[in-house]
Amino acid sequence: MITALISRKGGVGKTTTAVSLAAALAEMDHKVLLVDLDSQASASQSLGVRPEDLSPSSADLLLKSARAPEVLRPSGLPNLDLVTGSVDLLDADAQLGAFRGRHLRLRATLTAVSELYDHVLLDCPAGLSVVTGNAIAAADGFIAPTTPHFLSLSGIKNLIDTAERMAWDAGHRVRLLGILLTMVDYRTKLTRRSVDQLRQEYGRQVFAIEIRTNTRLAEAPEHGRTIFQFDPHATGAEAYRLLADEYLMRCSGDLQGHRG
Ligand SMILES: Nc1ncnc2c1ncn2[C@@H]1O[C@H](COP(=O)(O)OP(=O)(O)OP(=O)(O)O)[C@@H](O)[C@H]1O
Ligand SMILES: [Mg+2]
Repeated sequence: MITALISRKGGVGKTTTAVSLAAALAEMDHKVLLVDLDSQASASQSLGVRPEDLSPSSADLLLKSARAPEVLRPSGLPNLDLVTGSVDLLDADAQLGAFRGRHLRLRATLTAVSELYDHVLLDCPAGLSVVTGNAIAAADGFIAPTTPHFLSLSGIKNLIDTAERMAWDAGHRVRLLGILLTMVDYRTKLTRRSVDQLRQEYGRQVFAIEIRTNTRLAEAPEHGRTIFQFDPHATGAEAYRLLADEYLMRCSGDLQGHRG
């Protein structure tokens, strides 16, 4: 199963979710590959890769026709491998503009290794760039994280439609695995209303589990550690374990919700 994490807006929790979900699945003994497609390489750094050690990276896959086995590396955590991001991705859109089949570069190379893993997670940059288009063209499904704010929610329909169209253009179908509410804080006045509105409109397309605001999740990356290493009892750790359960159910086609 190849899953992309996408959003129009930045800072909605894609990377936190990619890293934490990957780590939770790996803890559950699934073999996982996390591919960092962001020029900021936040996912890679969250797993403790130093900026000077980012090469080789996903930029080599997209821009230099490297093969996946040449760029993937162990993450240091059992069952979790990583393809790092790189600042070289910054002008990937301009460079890829010259290629025929520019949306299909990642798919070609990932297909070869995806059989070695139970789950491949693609952490995308914000927006629907050519890089994200590559992720969508390679993915079986996508997760759309969003904060419960009016302006984030208003872009969801367009995001889903555009992702489905990009996949169609690439000659395949991609499935919405779920809209994921992140950084949910019910002390903020409008949160309840936004959450209710989203759930009413999208029903089971929204993950039952909500990721609440938890400062431990924001602190862990600085230490290059996942939330499960940094503070395994934090509410954020428990939330991402529950997300992993629900994610697995949704991968197998069950949209009913989560345990408990
Ligand atoms: N549940 C949470 N509670 C508290 N802080 C969080 C939570 N989720 C994410 N954050 C913090 O919010 C910021 C944005 O999160 P993150 O980097 O995961 O978003 P993103 O969508 O990947 O952003 P970008 O679009 O820039 O790649 C980070 O500083 C992260 O540590
Ligand atoms: Mg990110």
